[in-house]
Amino acid sequence: MPSEPRPLPDPDTACEPRRIDVALGKRSYPIWVGAGLLDRAGERLGPLLALPRVLLVTDETLIATGHVERLERSLTAAGIALHRLVVPAGERSKSMTVLGDLLERMLALGVERKMTVIALGGGVIGDLAGFAAAVLLRGVDFVQIPTTLLAQVDSAVGGKTGINARAGKNLIGAFHQPRAVLIDTSVLDTLPRRELGAGYAEVVKYGCILDLSFFEWLQTGAAGLLAGDEEARVRAICRSLEIKAEVVAQDEHETTGHRALLNFGHTFAHAYENIAGYGGTLLHGEAVSVGTVQAARLSAALGHAPEGDAERLRAHLDSLGMPTEPRHLREEGFKADAVLEAMSRDKKVEGGRLTFVLWRGIGRAFVDRTVPIDALEALLIEHDRVG
Ligand SMILES: NC(=O)c1ccc[n+]([C@@H]2O[C@H](COP(=O)([O-])OP(=O)(O)OC[C@H]3O[C@@H](n4cnc5c(N)ncnc54)[C@H](O)[C@@H]3O)[C@@H](O)[C@H]2O)c1
Ligand SMILES: [Zn+2]
Repeated sequence: MPSEPRPLPDPDTACEPRRIDVALGKRSYPIWVGAGLLDRAGERLGPLLALPRVLLVTDETLIATGHVERLERSLTAAGIALHRLVVPAGERSKSMTVLGDLLERMLALGVERKMTVIALGGGVIGDLAGFAAAVLLRGVDFVQIPTTLLAQVDSAVGGKTGINARAGKNLIGAFHQPRAVLIDTSVLDTLPRRELGAGYAEVVKYGCILDLSFFEWLQTGAAGLLAGDEEARVRAICRSLEIKAEVVAQDEHETTGHRALLNFGHTFAHAYENIAGYGGTLLHGEAVSVGTVQAARLSAALGHAPEGDAERLRAHLDSLGMPTEPRHLREEGFKADAVLEAMSRDKKVEGGRLTFVLWRGIGRAFVDRTVPIDALEALLIEHDRVG
Protein backbone atom coordinates (compact mmCIF):
# COMPACT_ATOMS: atom_id res chain seq x y z
CA MET A 1 0.00 0.00 0.00
CA PRO A 2 1.24 3.53 -0.73
CA SER A 3 2.47 5.30 2.38
CA GLU A 4 0.46 8.09 4.00
CA PRO A 5 0.54 11.15 1.67
CA ARG A 6 2.33 14.19 3.09
CA PRO A 7 1.38 17.79 2.28
CA LEU A 8 2.80 18.88 -1.07
CA PRO A 9 5.67 21.35 -0.95
CA ASP A 10 4.62 24.93 -1.59
CA PRO A 11 5.82 25.70 -5.14
CA ASP A 12 6.62 29.29 -4.23
CA THR A 13 8.88 28.47 -1.32
CA ALA A 14 10.35 25.17 -2.53
CA CYS A 15 14.09 25.64 -2.98
CA GLU A 16 15.76 25.91 -6.35
CA PRO A 17 16.17 22.53 -8.01
CA ARG A 18 19.60 20.99 -8.50
CA ARG A 19 20.73 20.70 -12.11
CA ILE A 20 22.86 17.99 -13.68
CA ASP A 21 23.81 18.06 -17.34
CA VAL A 22 24.19 15.09 -19.63
CA ALA A 23 26.94 16.16 -22.03
CA LEU A 24 26.22 14.71 -25.45
CA GLY A 25 27.16 17.54 -27.81
CA LYS A 26 24.12 18.80 -29.68
CA ARG A 27 21.93 16.31 -27.85
CA SER A 28 22.98 17.46 -24.36
CA TYR A 29 20.16 17.91 -21.88
CA PRO A 30 19.48 19.08 -18.35
CA ILE A 31 18.17 16.99 -15.47
CA TRP A 32 16.44 19.01 -12.75
CA VAL A 33 15.98 17.50 -9.31
CA GLY A 34 13.89 18.98 -6.50
CA ALA A 35 10.76 18.68 -4.39
CA GLY A 36 7.61 20.15 -5.96
CA LEU A 37 8.94 20.41 -9.53
CA LEU A 38 5.76 18.91 -10.95
CA ASP A 39 3.93 22.09 -10.00
CA ARG A 40 6.47 24.19 -11.87
CA ALA A 41 6.86 21.91 -14.90
CA GLY A 42 5.10 24.32 -17.25
CA GLU A 43 7.48 27.21 -16.65
CA ARG A 44 10.55 24.91 -16.80
CA LEU A 45 9.54 23.02 -19.93
CA GLY A 46 7.82 25.82 -21.85
CA PRO A 47 11.03 27.36 -23.23
CA LEU A 48 12.23 23.94 -24.44
CA LEU A 49 9.17 23.09 -26.50
CA ALA A 50 9.20 23.75 -30.25
CA LEU A 51 5.39 23.94 -30.08
CA PRO A 52 3.28 24.49 -26.94
CA ARG A 53 1.45 21.21 -27.52
CA VAL A 54 2.35 17.94 -25.81
CA LEU A 55 1.29 14.32 -25.73
CA LEU A 56 1.29 13.20 -22.11
CA VAL A 57 1.73 9.44 -21.66
CA THR A 58 1.02 8.00 -18.23
CA ASP A 59 -0.61 5.03 -16.51
CA GLU A 60 -3.76 4.44 -14.49
CA THR A 61 -1.95 4.23 -11.15
CA LEU A 62 -0.40 7.65 -11.64
CA ILE A 63 -3.84 9.15 -12.20
CA ALA A 64 -5.01 7.76 -8.86
CA THR A 65 -2.05 9.40 -7.06
CA GLY A 66 -3.00 12.90 -8.25
CA HIS A 67 0.42 13.50 -9.87
CA VAL A 68 -1.06 13.62 -13.38
CA GLU A 69 -3.44 16.35 -12.36
CA ARG A 70 -0.63 18.37 -10.75
CA LEU A 71 1.41 18.21 -13.93
CA GLU A 72 -1.53 19.03 -16.16
CA ARG A 73 -2.48 22.05 -14.06
CA SER A 74 1.03 23.41 -14.32
CA LEU A 75 1.28 22.84 -18.10
CA THR A 76 -2.09 24.43 -18.72
CA ALA A 77 -1.20 27.46 -16.59
CA ALA A 78 1.88 27.94 -18.78
CA GLY A 79 -0.28 27.94 -21.93
CA ILE A 80 0.75 24.45 -23.05
CA ALA A 81 -2.01 22.40 -24.68
CA LEU A 82 -1.97 18.72 -23.82
CA HIS A 83 -3.48 15.40 -24.79
CA ARG A 84 -3.54 12.75 -22.09
CA LEU A 85 -2.81 9.18 -23.22
CA VAL A 86 -3.25 6.50 -20.57
CA VAL A 87 -1.98 2.90 -20.72
CA PRO A 88 -2.41 0.12 -18.15
CA ALA A 89 0.19 0.12 -15.33
CA GLY A 90 2.85 -2.58 -15.32
CA GLU A 91 5.45 -4.37 -17.41
CA ARG A 92 2.85 -5.83 -19.77
CA SER A 93 2.42 -2.40 -21.34
CA LYS A 94 5.89 -2.69 -22.85
CA SER A 95 4.40 -4.69 -25.70
CA MET A 96 3.88 -4.41 -29.45
CA THR A 97 0.12 -4.27 -28.89
CA VAL A 98 0.19 -1.37 -26.44
CA LEU A 99 2.85 0.45 -28.48
CA GLY A 100 0.86 0.04 -31.70
CA ASP A 101 -2.31 1.28 -30.06
CA LEU A 102 -0.50 4.24 -28.48
CA LEU A 103 1.01 5.30 -31.82
CA GLU A 104 -2.35 5.04 -33.57
CA ARG A 105 -3.98 7.15 -30.86
CA MET A 106 -1.22 9.76 -31.22
CA LEU A 107 -1.62 9.88 -34.99
CA ALA A 108 -5.40 10.14 -34.66
CA LEU A 109 -4.87 13.34 -32.63
CA GLY A 110 -3.15 14.88 -35.63
CA VAL A 111 0.40 15.00 -34.31
CA GLU A 112 2.97 17.31 -35.80
CA ARG A 113 6.71 16.80 -36.01
CA LYS A 114 7.30 19.66 -33.56
CA MET A 115 5.14 18.26 -30.77
CA THR A 116 6.74 16.78 -27.67
CA VAL A 117 5.93 13.50 -25.94
CA ILE A 118 6.06 13.66 -22.13
CA ALA A 119 6.49 10.41 -20.19
CA LEU A 120 5.08 10.68 -16.65
CA GLY A 121 5.57 7.42 -14.77
CA GLY A 122 8.02 4.66 -13.90
CA GLY A 123 10.48 2.90 -16.18
CA VAL A 124 7.69 1.18 -18.07
CA ILE A 125 6.13 4.47 -19.16
CA GLY A 126 9.54 6.04 -19.90
CA ASP A 127 10.68 3.11 -22.04
CA LEU A 128 7.36 2.81 -23.89
CA ALA A 129 6.68 6.53 -24.45
CA GLY A 130 10.34 7.15 -25.31
CA PHE A 131 10.25 4.45 -27.96
CA ALA A 132 6.95 5.78 -29.31
CA ALA A 133 8.61 9.22 -29.57
CA ALA A 134 11.60 7.66 -31.34
CA VAL A 135 9.49 6.14 -34.10
CA LEU A 136 6.54 8.57 -34.34
CA LEU A 137 7.00 10.55 -37.57
CA ARG A 138 10.58 9.17 -37.52
CA GLY A 139 11.29 10.84 -34.21
CA VAL A 140 9.77 13.62 -32.11
CA ASP A 141 11.12 15.29 -28.98
CA PHE A 142 10.42 13.81 -25.62
CA VAL A 143 10.73 14.70 -21.95
CA GLN A 144 11.04 12.31 -19.05
CA ILE A 145 9.24 12.95 -15.75
CA PRO A 146 10.11 9.77 -13.81
CA THR A 147 8.01 8.90 -10.77
CA THR A 148 9.65 5.77 -9.31
CA LEU A 149 13.04 5.80 -7.59
CA LEU A 150 14.29 3.32 -10.18
CA ALA A 151 13.26 5.55 -13.06
CA GLN A 152 14.61 8.68 -11.36
CA VAL A 153 18.10 7.27 -10.80
CA ASP A 154 18.33 5.04 -13.82
CA SER A 155 15.89 4.48 -16.66
CA ALA A 156 14.90 8.11 -17.37
CA VAL A 157 18.48 9.09 -18.19
CA GLY A 158 20.65 7.66 -20.90
CA GLY A 159 18.36 7.37 -23.89
CA LYS A 160 17.60 3.65 -23.91
CA THR A 161 13.97 3.15 -24.89
CA GLY A 162 12.06 0.07 -25.93
CA ILE A 163 9.60 -2.72 -25.37
CA ASN A 164 9.72 -6.45 -24.67
CA ALA A 165 9.56 -9.28 -27.19
CA ARG A 166 8.50 -12.91 -26.77
CA ALA A 167 12.20 -13.78 -26.99
CA GLY A 168 13.09 -11.52 -24.05
CA LYS A 169 13.00 -8.15 -22.33
CA ASN A 170 13.94 -4.89 -24.07
CA LEU A 171 14.83 -6.63 -27.34
CA ILE A 172 13.01 -4.07 -29.49
CA GLY A 173 14.08 -0.48 -29.00
CA ALA A 174 16.08 2.57 -29.94
CA PHE A 175 18.47 5.08 -28.46
CA HIS A 176 16.49 8.30 -28.19
CA GLN A 177 17.73 10.89 -25.73
CA PRO A 178 15.15 13.07 -23.93
CA ARG A 179 15.28 16.87 -24.28
CA ALA A 180 15.07 17.21 -20.51
CA VAL A 181 14.45 15.15 -17.38
CA LEU A 182 12.41 16.60 -14.55
CA ILE A 183 12.60 14.83 -11.21
CA ASP A 184 10.15 15.76 -8.48
CA THR A 185 11.27 13.92 -5.37
CA SER A 186 7.92 14.51 -3.65
CA VAL A 187 6.19 11.98 -5.94
CA LEU A 188 8.07 9.24 -4.08
CA ASP A 189 5.72 9.82 -1.12
CA THR A 190 3.05 7.72 -2.84
CA LEU A 191 5.39 4.99 -4.09
CA PRO A 192 4.87 1.62 -2.35
CA ARG A 193 7.79 0.69 -0.03
CA ARG A 194 8.60 -2.41 -2.05
CA GLU A 195 9.07 -0.34 -5.24
CA LEU A 196 11.21 2.15 -3.31
CA GLY A 197 13.49 -0.66 -2.10
CA ALA A 198 13.79 -2.05 -5.61
CA GLY A 199 14.90 1.36 -6.88
CA TYR A 200 17.39 1.62 -4.03
CA ALA A 201 19.30 -1.39 -5.39
CA GLU A 202 20.25 0.72 -8.42
CA VAL A 203 21.38 3.57 -6.13
CA VAL A 204 23.75 1.24 -4.27
CA LYS A 205 24.96 -0.03 -7.63
CA TYR A 206 26.47 3.39 -8.45
CA GLY A 207 28.51 3.33 -5.25
CA CYS A 208 29.58 -0.23 -5.99
CA ILE A 209 30.86 0.51 -9.47
CA LEU A 210 32.54 3.90 -9.17
CA ASP A 211 32.27 5.65 -5.83
CA LEU A 212 33.38 4.20 -2.53
CA SER A 213 32.64 7.41 -0.61
CA PHE A 214 29.04 7.44 -1.93
CA PHE A 215 28.68 3.84 -0.74
CA GLU A 216 30.02 4.87 2.66
CA TRP A 217 27.54 7.75 2.85
CA LEU A 218 24.71 5.38 1.92
CA GLN A 219 25.60 3.11 4.84
CA THR A 220 24.20 5.82 7.11
CA GLY A 221 22.13 7.89 4.67
CA ALA A 222 20.01 5.12 3.15
CA ALA A 223 17.64 4.80 6.08
CA GLY A 224 16.69 8.48 5.76
CA LEU A 225 16.35 8.19 2.01
CA LEU A 226 13.95 5.28 2.34
CA ALA A 227 12.03 6.99 5.13
CA GLY A 228 11.39 10.03 2.90
CA ASP A 229 14.01 12.46 4.19
CA GLU A 230 14.10 15.17 1.51
CA GLU A 231 17.78 16.06 1.77
CA ALA A 232 18.83 12.41 1.66
CA ARG A 233 16.64 11.81 -1.37
CA VAL A 234 18.05 14.72 -3.33
CA ARG A 235 21.62 13.83 -2.41
CA ALA A 236 21.28 10.14 -3.33
CA ILE A 237 19.41 10.84 -6.57
CA CYS A 238 21.82 13.56 -7.68
CA ARG A 239 24.96 11.54 -6.97
CA SER A 240 23.47 8.54 -8.79
CA LEU A 241 22.63 10.72 -11.78
CA GLU A 242 26.03 12.40 -11.86
CA ILE A 243 27.60 8.98 -12.16
CA LYS A 244 25.13 7.78 -14.77
CA ALA A 245 25.45 11.02 -16.80
CA GLU A 246 29.23 10.73 -16.77
CA VAL A 247 29.18 7.09 -17.91
CA VAL A 248 26.61 7.78 -20.65
CA ALA A 249 28.56 10.81 -21.89
CA GLN A 250 31.63 8.61 -22.27
CA ASP A 251 29.93 5.70 -24.00
CA GLU A 252 26.46 6.70 -25.22
CA HIS A 253 25.77 3.63 -27.34
CA GLU A 254 27.55 1.05 -25.21
CA THR A 255 30.34 0.50 -27.70
CA THR A 256 33.50 0.90 -25.61
CA GLY A 257 32.42 -1.27 -22.70
CA HIS A 258 32.38 1.62 -20.20
CA ARG A 259 28.58 1.85 -20.14
CA ALA A 260 28.51 -1.87 -19.39
CA LEU A 261 29.68 -1.02 -15.84
CA LEU A 262 26.08 0.03 -15.19
CA ASN A 263 25.21 -3.64 -15.50
CA PHE A 264 26.94 -4.59 -12.24
CA GLY A 265 24.84 -7.42 -10.78
CA HIS A 266 22.68 -7.57 -13.88
CA THR A 267 23.97 -10.79 -15.46
CA PHE A 268 22.65 -12.56 -12.36
CA ALA A 269 19.55 -10.36 -12.11
CA HIS A 270 18.48 -10.94 -15.71
CA ALA A 271 18.81 -14.69 -15.24
CA TYR A 272 16.62 -14.64 -12.10
CA GLU A 273 14.03 -12.46 -13.84
CA ASN A 274 14.08 -14.65 -16.91
CA ILE A 275 13.43 -17.79 -14.85
CA ALA A 276 10.80 -16.20 -12.59
CA GLY A 277 8.99 -14.65 -15.55
CA TYR A 278 8.01 -11.03 -15.93
CA GLY A 279 4.59 -11.24 -14.32
CA GLY A 280 5.40 -8.92 -11.45
CA THR A 281 6.25 -11.54 -8.81
CA LEU A 282 9.86 -10.41 -8.88
CA LEU A 283 10.84 -6.76 -9.24
CA HIS A 284 13.87 -5.88 -11.35
CA GLY A 285 15.55 -4.00 -8.51
CA GLU A 286 15.07 -6.93 -6.14
CA ALA A 287 16.84 -9.19 -8.61
CA VAL A 288 19.58 -6.55 -8.92
CA SER A 289 19.98 -6.46 -5.13
CA VAL A 290 20.82 -10.17 -5.06
CA GLY A 291 22.77 -9.88 -8.32
CA THR A 292 25.15 -7.24 -6.94
CA VAL A 293 25.97 -9.42 -3.93
CA GLN A 294 26.58 -12.40 -6.19
CA ALA A 295 28.86 -10.34 -8.46
CA ALA A 296 30.82 -9.23 -5.39
CA ARG A 297 31.10 -12.83 -4.18
CA LEU A 298 32.24 -14.00 -7.60
CA SER A 299 34.89 -11.27 -7.64
CA ALA A 300 36.19 -12.54 -4.30
CA ALA A 301 36.08 -16.19 -5.40
CA LEU A 302 38.19 -15.31 -8.44
CA GLY A 303 40.71 -13.44 -6.31
CA HIS A 304 39.93 -9.99 -7.75
CA ALA A 305 38.69 -8.47 -4.50
CA PRO A 306 38.64 -9.02 -0.75
CA GLU A 307 35.85 -11.22 0.60
CA GLY A 308 35.17 -8.50 3.19
CA ASP A 309 33.82 -6.10 0.57
CA ALA A 310 31.18 -8.60 -0.56
CA GLU A 311 30.22 -9.08 3.06
CA ARG A 312 30.02 -5.33 3.60
CA LEU A 313 27.61 -4.97 0.68
CA ARG A 314 25.52 -7.92 1.85
CA ALA A 315 25.31 -6.58 5.41
CA HIS A 316 24.26 -3.12 4.17
CA LEU A 317 21.47 -4.45 1.95
CA ASP A 318 20.40 -6.90 4.67
CA SER A 319 20.13 -4.10 7.23
CA LEU A 320 17.56 -2.43 4.98
CA GLY A 321 15.56 -5.63 4.50
CA MET A 322 16.70 -6.01 0.90
CA PRO A 323 17.06 -9.48 -0.66
CA THR A 324 20.64 -10.77 -0.73
CA GLU A 325 20.25 -14.49 -1.47
CA PRO A 326 18.52 -16.12 -4.45
CA ARG A 327 16.08 -17.80 -2.06
CA HIS A 328 14.95 -14.37 -0.84
CA LEU A 329 13.57 -13.79 -4.34
CA ARG A 330 11.51 -16.95 -4.35
CA GLU A 331 11.18 -19.74 -1.85
CA GLU A 332 12.50 -22.52 -4.03
CA GLY A 333 15.63 -20.53 -4.98
CA PHE A 334 17.19 -20.90 -8.41
CA LYS A 335 18.95 -24.09 -9.54
CA ALA A 336 22.49 -23.54 -10.81
CA ASP A 337 21.90 -25.23 -14.17
CA ALA A 338 18.77 -23.14 -14.82
CA VAL A 339 20.66 -19.92 -13.99
CA LEU A 340 23.56 -20.90 -16.26
CA GLU A 341 21.15 -21.69 -19.05
CA ALA A 342 19.33 -18.37 -18.64
CA MET A 343 22.66 -16.50 -18.60
CA SER A 344 23.69 -18.05 -21.88
CA ARG A 345 20.46 -16.78 -23.48
CA ASP A 346 21.04 -13.20 -22.28
CA LYS A 347 21.40 -10.61 -25.05
CA LYS A 348 24.67 -9.48 -23.48
CA VAL A 349 26.35 -12.74 -24.53
CA GLU A 350 29.02 -11.88 -27.09
CA GLY A 351 30.68 -14.55 -29.19
CA GLY A 352 29.44 -17.22 -26.80
CA ARG A 353 31.17 -15.60 -23.82
CA LEU A 354 29.33 -14.48 -20.72
CA THR A 355 29.97 -10.89 -19.73
CA PHE A 356 30.24 -10.05 -16.06
CA VAL A 357 30.85 -6.80 -14.32
CA LEU A 358 33.07 -7.62 -11.35
CA TRP A 359 34.93 -5.41 -8.90
CA ARG A 360 38.37 -5.06 -7.36
CA GLY A 361 36.61 -3.73 -4.29
CA ILE A 362 33.78 -1.28 -3.60
CA GLY A 363 33.85 1.53 -6.19
CA ARG A 364 36.22 -0.25 -8.57
CA ALA A 365 34.21 -2.23 -11.12
CA PHE A 366 35.47 -3.67 -14.38
CA VAL A 367 34.13 -5.79 -17.21
CA ASP A 368 35.28 -9.40 -17.40
CA ARG A 369 34.56 -11.75 -20.28
CA THR A 370 36.82 -14.51 -19.03
CA VAL A 371 34.97 -15.82 -16.01
CA PRO A 372 35.57 -19.58 -15.80
CA ILE A 373 32.30 -21.51 -15.82
CA ASP A 374 33.35 -23.83 -12.99
CA ALA A 375 33.91 -20.93 -10.57
CA LEU A 376 30.55 -19.46 -11.52
CA GLU A 377 28.84 -22.82 -11.14
CA ALA A 378 30.41 -23.39 -7.72
CA LEU A 379 29.06 -20.02 -6.53
CA LEU A 380 25.60 -20.72 -7.90
CA ILE A 381 25.48 -24.13 -6.22
CA GLU A 382 26.72 -22.72 -2.91
CA HIS A 383 23.93 -20.12 -2.84
CA ASP A 384 21.32 -22.46 -4.18
CA ARG A 385 20.73 -24.02 -0.78
CA VAL A 386 17.27 -23.31 0.49
CA GLY A 387 16.76 -22.63 4.19
N1 LIG B 1 15.76 2.46 -20.24
C1 LIG B 1 16.61 2.11 -19.31
O1 LIG B 1 17.78 2.47 -19.32
C2 LIG B 1 16.12 1.23 -18.19
C3 LIG B 1 16.92 1.02 -17.07
C4 LIG B 1 16.41 0.27 -16.01
C5 LIG B 1 15.12 -0.25 -16.09
N2 LIG B 1 14.37 -0.04 -17.21
C6 LIG B 1 13.01 -0.56 -17.32
O2 LIG B 1 12.21 0.05 -16.32
C7 LIG B 1 11.10 -0.79 -16.03
C8 LIG B 1 10.86 -0.83 -14.54
O3 LIG B 1 10.59 0.47 -14.10
P1 LIG B 1 9.93 0.74 -12.67
O4 LIG B 1 10.63 -0.05 -11.65
O5 LIG B 1 9.85 2.20 -12.53
O6 LIG B 1 8.50 0.05 -12.81
P2 LIG B 1 7.07 0.57 -13.34
O7 LIG B 1 7.21 1.61 -14.35
O8 LIG B 1 6.28 -0.64 -13.65
O9 LIG B 1 6.47 1.23 -12.01
C9 LIG B 1 6.17 0.41 -10.90
C10 LIG B 1 4.73 0.62 -10.41
O10 LIG B 1 4.68 1.82 -9.65
C11 LIG B 1 3.62 2.65 -10.11
N3 LIG B 1 4.05 4.02 -9.85
C12 LIG B 1 4.93 4.76 -10.56
N4 LIG B 1 5.18 5.90 -9.93
C13 LIG B 1 4.43 5.93 -8.81
C14 LIG B 1 4.25 6.86 -7.74
N5 LIG B 1 4.96 7.98 -7.69
N6 LIG B 1 3.38 6.53 -6.77
C15 LIG B 1 2.70 5.36 -6.79
N7 LIG B 1 2.83 4.44 -7.75
C16 LIG B 1 3.69 4.72 -8.75
C17 LIG B 1 3.47 2.29 -11.56
O11 LIG B 1 2.16 2.60 -12.00
C18 LIG B 1 3.71 0.79 -11.52
O12 LIG B 1 2.55 0.11 -11.14
C19 LIG B 1 11.42 -2.14 -16.62
O13 LIG B 1 10.62 -2.35 -17.75
C20 LIG B 1 12.88 -2.02 -17.03
O14 LIG B 1 13.19 -2.80 -18.17
C21 LIG B 1 14.85 0.69 -18.24
ZN1 LIG C 1 18.79 -2.29 -13.63
